[in-house]
Amino acid sequence: MRIAVARELAPGEARVALVPDLVGKLRTAGYEVAVQTAAGAGASLTDAAYEAAGALVTDHPFDQADLVLSVQPLDAECLAPLPSGAATISFFPLAGRPGDIALRRDRKITTFGMEYVPRISRAQSMDALSSQAMVAGYRGAIVAAEMLGQFFPLSMTAAGTVPPAQVVVLGAGVAGLQAIATCRRLGAVVKGYDVRAAAAEEIRSMGAQAIELPLPTLEGAGGYAREMTEDRAQRQRELLASYVAAADALITTAAVPGRRAPLLVTTEMVLQMAPGSVVVDLAAEAGGNVEGVVAGSVVRVGSVRLWGGANVPSQMPAPASRLYAQNLLNVIMLMTRDGRFAPDLDDEIISAMCITHDGQVFDGTRAGAAS
Ligand SMILES: NC(=O)c1ccc[n+]([C@@H]2O[C@H](COP(=O)([O-])OP(=O)(O)OC[C@H]3O[C@@H](n4cnc5c(N)ncnc54)[C@H](O)[C@@H]3O)[C@@H](O)[C@H]2O)c1
Repeated sequence: MRIAVARELAPGEARVALVPDLVGKLRTAGYEVAVQTAAGAGASLTDAAYEAAGALVTDHPFDQADLVLSVQPLDAECLAPLPSGAATISFFPLAGRPGDIALRRDRKITTFGMEYVPRISRAQSMDALSSQAMVAGYRGAIVAAEMLGQFFPLSMTAAGTVPPAQVVVLGAGVAGLQAIATCRRLGAVVKGYDVRAAAAEEIRSMGAQAIELPLPTLEGAGGYAREMTEDRAQRQRELLASYVAAADALITTAAVPGRRAPLLVTTEMVLQMAPGSVVVDLAAEAGGNVEGVVAGSVVRVGSVRLWGGANVPSQMPAPASRLYAQNLLNVIMLMTRDGRFAPDLDDEIISAMCITHDGQVFDGTRAGAAS
Protein backbone atom coordinates (compact mmCIF):
# COMPACT_ATOMS: atom_id res chain seq x y z
CA MET A 1 0.00 0.00 0.00
CA ARG A 2 1.25 3.45 -0.83
CA ILE A 3 1.39 6.45 1.50
CA ALA A 4 1.86 9.74 -0.36
CA VAL A 5 3.16 12.93 1.26
CA ALA A 6 1.94 16.20 -0.26
CA ARG A 7 3.91 19.38 -0.83
CA GLU A 8 2.01 22.09 1.07
CA LEU A 9 0.46 24.71 -1.18
CA ALA A 10 -1.14 27.08 1.34
CA PRO A 11 0.62 30.46 1.50
CA GLY A 12 2.95 30.65 4.52
CA GLU A 13 2.80 26.92 5.26
CA ALA A 14 6.41 25.70 5.63
CA ARG A 15 5.75 22.43 7.48
CA VAL A 16 5.69 18.96 5.95
CA ALA A 17 3.73 15.93 7.14
CA LEU A 18 6.57 13.40 7.14
CA VAL A 19 10.27 13.73 7.98
CA PRO A 20 12.93 11.43 6.52
CA ASP A 21 13.72 9.89 9.94
CA LEU A 22 10.25 8.33 10.07
CA VAL A 23 10.14 6.91 6.51
CA GLY A 24 11.82 3.70 7.69
CA LYS A 25 9.13 3.10 10.34
CA LEU A 26 6.37 3.28 7.72
CA ARG A 27 8.29 0.95 5.40
CA THR A 28 8.85 -1.54 8.22
CA ALA A 29 5.09 -1.42 8.86
CA GLY A 30 4.56 -2.52 5.25
CA TYR A 31 4.00 0.71 3.34
CA GLU A 32 5.60 2.14 0.22
CA VAL A 33 6.26 5.87 0.75
CA ALA A 34 6.04 8.44 -2.08
CA VAL A 35 6.97 12.04 -1.30
CA GLN A 36 6.05 14.90 -3.62
CA THR A 37 9.10 16.70 -5.01
CA ALA A 38 10.35 19.51 -2.70
CA ALA A 39 7.73 18.64 -0.04
CA GLY A 40 10.27 19.17 2.75
CA ALA A 41 11.96 22.27 1.34
CA GLY A 42 10.23 24.71 3.73
CA ALA A 43 11.51 22.69 6.70
CA SER A 44 15.04 22.36 5.23
CA LEU A 45 14.51 18.67 4.38
CA THR A 46 15.91 17.72 0.99
CA ASP A 47 14.51 15.29 -1.57
CA ALA A 48 17.83 13.43 -1.29
CA ALA A 49 17.24 12.88 2.44
CA TYR A 50 13.83 11.31 1.73
CA GLU A 51 15.36 9.14 -1.01
CA ALA A 52 18.19 8.04 1.27
CA ALA A 53 15.55 7.01 3.83
CA GLY A 54 13.87 4.79 1.21
CA ALA A 55 11.08 7.02 -0.11
CA LEU A 56 10.22 7.54 -3.76
CA VAL A 57 10.36 11.26 -4.62
CA THR A 58 8.02 12.18 -7.45
CA ASP A 59 5.98 15.07 -8.85
CA HIS A 60 2.87 12.87 -8.97
CA PRO A 61 2.58 10.78 -5.78
CA PHE A 62 -1.23 10.77 -5.60
CA ASP A 63 -2.58 8.60 -8.43
CA GLN A 64 -1.73 5.26 -6.78
CA ALA A 65 -1.99 6.43 -3.17
CA ASP A 66 -4.05 4.60 -0.56
CA LEU A 67 -3.37 7.30 2.02
CA VAL A 68 -2.22 10.92 1.62
CA LEU A 69 -0.56 12.85 4.45
CA SER A 70 -0.47 16.63 4.63
CA VAL A 71 -0.55 19.44 7.16
CA GLN A 72 -3.26 21.57 5.54
CA PRO A 73 -6.23 19.94 3.75
CA LEU A 74 -5.50 18.88 0.15
CA ASP A 75 -7.01 21.14 -2.45
CA ALA A 76 -9.36 19.86 -5.18
CA GLU A 77 -6.50 19.57 -7.69
CA CYS A 78 -4.59 17.14 -5.46
CA LEU A 79 -7.76 15.20 -4.65
CA ALA A 80 -8.63 14.70 -8.34
CA PRO A 81 -6.08 11.93 -9.11
CA LEU A 82 -6.76 10.03 -5.86
CA PRO A 83 -8.35 6.61 -6.34
CA SER A 84 -11.89 6.35 -4.94
CA GLY A 85 -11.70 4.87 -1.44
CA ALA A 86 -8.33 6.47 -0.66
CA ALA A 87 -7.87 8.25 2.69
CA THR A 88 -6.30 11.53 3.77
CA ILE A 89 -4.99 12.62 7.16
CA SER A 90 -4.32 16.32 7.81
CA PHE A 91 -5.64 19.15 9.88
CA PHE A 92 -9.16 19.72 8.55
CA PRO A 93 -10.85 22.82 10.01
CA LEU A 94 -14.53 22.46 9.17
CA ALA A 95 -15.51 26.12 9.03
CA GLY A 96 -15.98 27.26 5.45
CA ARG A 97 -15.41 23.79 3.96
CA PRO A 98 -18.86 22.47 2.96
CA GLY A 99 -17.73 22.20 -0.70
CA ASP A 100 -14.63 20.21 0.23
CA ILE A 101 -16.65 17.86 2.41
CA ALA A 102 -19.21 17.28 -0.35
CA LEU A 103 -16.45 16.58 -2.88
CA ARG A 104 -14.81 14.06 -0.57
CA ARG A 105 -18.15 12.40 0.21
CA ASP A 106 -18.97 12.11 -3.51
CA ARG A 107 -15.49 10.79 -4.38
CA LYS A 108 -15.75 8.26 -1.49
CA ILE A 109 -12.58 9.63 0.07
CA THR A 110 -12.05 8.86 3.77
CA THR A 111 -11.07 12.07 5.60
CA PHE A 112 -9.43 12.16 9.02
CA GLY A 113 -8.86 15.48 10.84
CA MET A 114 -5.95 15.66 13.28
CA GLU A 115 -7.60 18.34 15.42
CA TYR A 116 -10.37 15.89 16.40
CA VAL A 117 -8.06 13.39 18.13
CA PRO A 118 -9.75 13.16 21.53
CA ARG A 119 -7.75 14.37 24.53
CA ILE A 120 -7.66 11.01 26.29
CA SER A 121 -4.46 9.49 27.65
CA ARG A 122 -4.32 6.72 24.99
CA ALA A 123 -4.26 9.41 22.30
CA GLN A 124 -1.64 11.71 23.82
CA SER A 125 1.07 10.64 21.39
CA MET A 126 -1.28 11.52 18.48
CA ASP A 127 -2.30 14.95 19.79
CA ALA A 128 -1.10 17.35 17.12
CA LEU A 129 -2.99 20.31 18.60
CA SER A 130 -0.76 19.96 21.67
CA SER A 131 2.48 19.39 19.79
CA GLN A 132 1.90 22.41 17.56
CA ALA A 133 0.71 24.59 20.49
CA MET A 134 3.93 23.70 22.27
CA VAL A 135 5.93 24.99 19.27
CA ALA A 136 3.79 28.15 19.15
CA GLY A 137 4.35 28.83 22.85
CA TYR A 138 8.11 28.53 22.47
CA ARG A 139 8.11 30.75 19.40
CA GLY A 140 5.93 33.35 21.14
CA ALA A 141 8.42 33.63 23.98
CA ILE A 142 11.36 33.96 21.57
CA VAL A 143 9.53 36.66 19.58
CA ALA A 144 8.84 38.59 22.80
CA ALA A 145 12.49 38.32 23.85
CA GLU A 146 13.67 39.41 20.42
CA MET A 147 11.28 42.38 20.13
CA LEU A 148 11.92 43.65 23.65
CA GLY A 149 15.05 45.75 23.64
CA GLN A 150 15.94 44.59 27.14
CA PHE A 151 17.68 41.67 28.84
CA PHE A 152 15.37 38.92 30.02
CA PRO A 153 17.70 37.79 32.89
CA LEU A 154 18.95 39.74 35.87
CA SER A 155 22.51 40.71 34.95
CA MET A 156 25.00 41.82 37.58
CA THR A 157 28.03 43.35 35.97
CA ALA A 158 30.94 45.64 36.95
CA ALA A 159 29.02 48.41 35.22
CA GLY A 160 25.98 47.85 37.40
CA THR A 161 22.92 45.67 37.72
CA VAL A 162 20.39 45.23 34.91
CA PRO A 163 17.00 44.14 36.31
CA PRO A 164 15.23 41.13 34.76
CA ALA A 165 12.35 41.60 32.34
CA GLN A 166 8.84 41.26 33.74
CA VAL A 167 6.71 38.95 31.60
CA VAL A 168 2.99 38.25 31.97
CA VAL A 169 1.41 35.25 30.21
CA LEU A 170 -2.40 35.12 29.93
CA GLY A 171 -3.84 31.66 29.16
CA ALA A 172 -1.81 28.79 30.57
CA GLY A 173 -2.77 25.81 28.43
CA VAL A 174 -0.20 23.99 26.31
CA ALA A 175 1.12 27.10 24.49
CA GLY A 176 1.01 29.36 27.55
CA LEU A 177 2.88 26.91 29.79
CA GLN A 178 5.55 26.47 27.11
CA ALA A 179 5.85 30.27 26.80
CA ILE A 180 6.19 30.52 30.59
CA ALA A 181 8.84 27.77 30.69
CA THR A 182 10.81 29.39 27.87
CA CYS A 183 10.72 32.89 29.41
CA ARG A 184 11.80 31.40 32.74
CA ARG A 185 14.73 29.61 31.07
CA LEU A 186 15.75 32.97 29.60
CA GLY A 187 15.73 34.40 33.13
CA ALA A 188 12.66 36.65 33.07
CA VAL A 189 10.39 37.10 36.07
CA VAL A 190 7.10 35.58 34.90
CA LYS A 191 3.50 35.79 36.10
CA GLY A 192 0.74 33.69 34.57
CA TYR A 193 -3.05 33.67 34.64
CA ASP A 194 -5.71 31.23 33.47
CA VAL A 195 -9.40 30.83 34.21
CA ARG A 196 -9.05 27.08 34.96
CA ALA A 197 -8.37 26.19 38.62
CA ALA A 198 -5.80 23.51 37.76
CA ALA A 199 -3.68 26.03 35.86
CA ALA A 200 -2.40 27.89 38.96
CA GLU A 201 -0.43 24.86 40.16
CA GLU A 202 0.91 24.23 36.62
CA ILE A 203 2.04 27.87 36.36
CA ARG A 204 3.86 27.59 39.69
CA SER A 205 5.48 24.30 38.65
CA MET A 206 7.14 26.22 35.77
CA GLY A 207 8.75 28.61 38.27
CA ALA A 208 6.31 31.46 37.61
CA GLN A 209 3.93 33.29 39.92
CA ALA A 210 0.25 32.42 39.45
CA ILE A 211 -1.98 35.50 39.32
CA GLU A 212 -5.05 34.67 41.40
CA LEU A 213 -8.08 36.92 40.92
CA PRO A 214 -11.18 37.07 43.13
CA LEU A 215 -13.31 35.56 40.34
CA PRO A 216 -14.91 32.12 39.95
CA THR A 217 -12.91 29.66 37.83
CA LEU A 218 -14.33 28.60 34.46
CA GLU A 219 -13.83 24.90 33.80
CA GLY A 220 -15.62 23.53 30.74
CA ALA A 221 -15.90 20.06 29.22
CA GLY A 222 -12.81 17.98 28.41
CA GLY A 223 -10.39 20.07 30.51
CA TYR A 224 -11.01 23.19 28.40
CA ALA A 225 -12.17 26.62 29.60
CA ARG A 226 -15.71 27.95 29.35
CA GLU A 227 -16.59 31.21 27.64
CA MET A 228 -16.80 34.28 29.91
CA THR A 229 -19.94 36.37 30.26
CA GLU A 230 -19.41 40.01 29.25
CA ASP A 231 -19.72 41.05 32.94
CA ARG A 232 -17.01 38.64 34.00
CA ALA A 233 -14.82 39.65 31.03
CA GLN A 234 -15.09 43.29 32.06
CA ARG A 235 -14.24 42.49 35.71
CA GLN A 236 -11.32 40.27 34.66
CA ARG A 237 -9.90 43.07 32.51
CA GLU A 238 -10.17 45.52 35.42
CA LEU A 239 -8.38 43.11 37.76
CA LEU A 240 -5.64 42.28 35.23
CA ALA A 241 -4.97 45.91 34.25
CA SER A 242 -2.28 46.53 36.89
CA TYR A 243 -0.44 43.28 35.97
CA VAL A 244 -0.51 44.21 32.27
CA ALA A 245 0.69 47.76 33.03
CA ALA A 246 3.71 46.39 34.93
CA ALA A 247 4.74 43.93 32.20
CA ASP A 248 7.65 44.60 29.85
CA ALA A 249 6.38 41.75 27.68
CA LEU A 250 2.83 40.39 27.58
CA ILE A 251 2.13 37.04 25.87
CA THR A 252 -1.50 35.99 25.38
CA THR A 253 -2.67 32.51 24.41
CA ALA A 254 -6.26 32.28 25.71
CA ALA A 255 -8.77 30.28 23.69
CA VAL A 256 -12.15 28.60 24.09
CA PRO A 257 -12.81 25.79 21.57
CA GLY A 258 -15.24 26.75 18.82
CA ARG A 259 -15.49 30.38 19.96
CA ARG A 260 -13.81 33.68 19.16
CA ALA A 261 -10.76 34.18 21.40
CA PRO A 262 -11.74 36.09 24.59
CA LEU A 263 -10.83 39.79 24.67
CA LEU A 264 -8.53 40.04 27.68
CA VAL A 265 -6.69 43.31 27.06
CA THR A 266 -8.12 46.57 25.73
CA THR A 267 -6.22 49.37 23.96
CA GLU A 268 -6.59 51.41 27.13
CA MET A 269 -4.76 48.68 29.07
CA VAL A 270 -1.97 48.48 26.45
CA LEU A 271 -1.51 52.25 26.67
CA GLN A 272 -0.75 51.87 30.40
CA MET A 273 2.33 49.72 29.58
CA ALA A 274 5.77 51.35 29.73
CA PRO A 275 7.21 52.76 26.47
CA GLY A 276 9.03 50.06 24.52
CA SER A 277 6.98 47.19 25.98
CA VAL A 278 5.85 44.42 23.64
CA VAL A 279 2.74 42.30 23.29
CA VAL A 280 2.68 38.90 21.56
CA ASP A 281 -0.84 37.63 20.85
CA LEU A 282 -0.85 33.95 19.88
CA ALA A 283 -4.65 33.99 19.62
CA ALA A 284 -4.64 36.63 16.85
CA GLU A 285 -6.03 34.27 14.17
CA ALA A 286 -9.00 33.43 16.40
CA GLY A 287 -9.89 37.12 16.79
CA GLY A 288 -7.17 38.04 19.29
CA ASN A 289 -6.93 38.42 23.07
CA VAL A 290 -5.71 42.00 22.65
CA GLU A 291 -7.77 44.77 21.09
CA GLY A 292 -6.42 45.94 17.73
CA VAL A 293 -4.20 42.93 17.04
CA VAL A 294 -3.73 41.91 13.37
CA ALA A 295 -2.67 38.33 12.64
CA GLY A 296 0.61 38.29 10.73
CA SER A 297 1.46 41.95 11.46
CA VAL A 298 3.08 44.19 14.02
CA VAL A 299 0.82 47.07 15.06
CA ARG A 300 1.94 50.04 17.12
CA VAL A 301 -0.33 51.11 20.00
CA GLY A 302 1.21 54.28 21.43
CA SER A 303 4.80 53.24 22.05
CA VAL A 304 3.96 49.54 22.53
CA ARG A 305 4.36 47.06 19.68
CA LEU A 306 1.69 44.40 19.26
CA TRP A 307 2.69 41.23 17.36
CA GLY A 308 -0.15 39.10 15.98
CA GLY A 309 0.64 35.43 15.41
CA ALA A 310 -0.29 33.80 12.08
CA ASN A 311 0.35 30.07 11.64
CA VAL A 312 2.95 30.34 14.37
CA PRO A 313 4.03 26.64 14.41
CA SER A 314 5.00 27.02 10.74
CA GLN A 315 7.51 29.70 11.81
CA MET A 316 9.56 26.86 13.33
CA PRO A 317 8.97 24.37 10.51
CA ALA A 318 11.66 21.81 11.32
CA PRO A 319 10.63 20.91 14.90
CA ALA A 320 6.93 21.48 14.16
CA SER A 321 7.14 19.03 11.21
CA ARG A 322 9.06 16.47 13.24
CA LEU A 323 6.47 16.50 16.05
CA TYR A 324 3.49 16.53 13.67
CA ALA A 325 4.99 13.65 11.67
CA GLN A 326 5.45 11.62 14.86
CA ASN A 327 1.79 12.32 15.79
CA LEU A 328 0.76 11.13 12.30
CA LEU A 329 2.93 8.02 12.51
CA ASN A 330 1.23 7.08 15.79
CA VAL A 331 -2.19 7.59 14.17
CA ILE A 332 -1.20 5.48 11.15
CA MET A 333 0.06 2.67 13.39
CA LEU A 334 -3.31 2.69 15.18
CA MET A 335 -4.98 2.37 11.76
CA THR A 336 -2.70 -0.41 10.45
CA ARG A 337 -3.57 -4.13 10.57
CA ASP A 338 -1.19 -6.76 9.14
CA GLY A 339 0.70 -4.28 6.98
CA ARG A 340 -2.49 -2.78 5.56
CA PHE A 341 -4.17 0.55 6.15
CA ALA A 342 -7.42 -0.64 7.74
CA PRO A 343 -8.85 1.96 10.14
CA ASP A 344 -11.33 0.52 12.63
CA LEU A 345 -14.09 3.11 12.70
CA ASP A 346 -15.41 1.64 15.94
CA ASP A 347 -12.23 2.77 17.70
CA GLU A 348 -12.99 5.87 19.80
CA ILE A 349 -10.00 7.83 18.49
CA ILE A 350 -10.47 6.90 14.84
CA SER A 351 -14.20 7.56 14.82
CA ALA A 352 -13.70 10.99 16.43
CA MET A 353 -11.21 11.90 13.67
CA CYS A 354 -13.36 10.66 10.79
CA ILE A 355 -15.11 13.35 8.75
CA THR A 356 -16.06 11.47 5.56
CA HIS A 357 -16.03 7.76 4.76
CA ASP A 358 -17.58 5.59 2.05
CA GLY A 359 -19.84 8.34 0.74
CA GLN A 360 -21.05 9.47 4.15
CA VAL A 361 -20.41 12.46 6.36
CA PHE A 362 -20.19 10.97 9.81
CA ASP A 363 -22.85 11.53 12.45
CA GLY A 364 -21.72 11.90 16.03
CA THR A 365 -18.41 13.45 15.04
CA ARG A 366 -17.65 17.16 14.85
CA ALA A 367 -18.06 16.81 11.09
CA GLY A 368 -21.54 15.36 11.56
CA ALA A 369 -22.44 18.17 13.90
CA ALA A 370 -21.21 20.78 11.41
CA SER A 371 -22.85 19.39 8.27
N1 LIG B 1 -4.26 14.56 26.21
C1 LIG B 1 -4.70 15.36 27.15
O1 LIG B 1 -5.29 14.92 28.11
C2 LIG B 1 -4.50 16.84 27.00
C3 LIG B 1 -3.71 17.28 25.96
C4 LIG B 1 -3.51 18.66 25.82
C5 LIG B 1 -4.12 19.55 26.68
N2 LIG B 1 -4.88 19.07 27.69
C6 LIG B 1 -5.54 20.01 28.61
O2 LIG B 1 -6.49 20.79 27.92
C7 LIG B 1 -6.56 22.07 28.51
C8 LIG B 1 -6.45 23.22 27.52
O3 LIG B 1 -5.46 22.98 26.59
P1 LIG B 1 -5.17 23.94 25.35
O4 LIG B 1 -3.86 24.60 25.57
O5 LIG B 1 -5.35 23.18 24.08
O6 LIG B 1 -6.33 25.02 25.47
P2 LIG B 1 -6.81 26.14 24.49
O7 LIG B 1 -5.84 26.38 23.38
O8 LIG B 1 -8.24 25.87 24.17
O9 LIG B 1 -6.79 27.45 25.44
C9 LIG B 1 -5.59 27.98 25.94
C10 LIG B 1 -5.79 28.39 27.40
O10 LIG B 1 -6.59 29.57 27.46
C11 LIG B 1 -7.29 29.51 28.69
N3 LIG B 1 -8.37 30.50 28.70
C12 LIG B 1 -9.56 30.46 28.08
N4 LIG B 1 -10.26 31.57 28.35
C13 LIG B 1 -9.50 32.35 29.15
C14 LIG B 1 -9.66 33.61 29.75
N5 LIG B 1 -10.80 34.30 29.61
N6 LIG B 1 -8.67 34.12 30.51
C15 LIG B 1 -7.52 33.42 30.68
N7 LIG B 1 -7.30 32.22 30.13
C16 LIG B 1 -8.28 31.67 29.39
C17 LIG B 1 -7.74 28.07 28.73
O11 LIG B 1 -8.12 27.68 30.04
C18 LIG B 1 -6.50 27.35 28.25
O12 LIG B 1 -5.66 26.97 29.32
C19 LIG B 1 -5.50 22.06 29.56
O13 LIG B 1 -6.14 21.64 30.75
C20 LIG B 1 -4.55 21.01 29.15
O14 LIG B 1 -3.81 20.48 30.22
C21 LIG B 1 -5.09 17.74 27.85
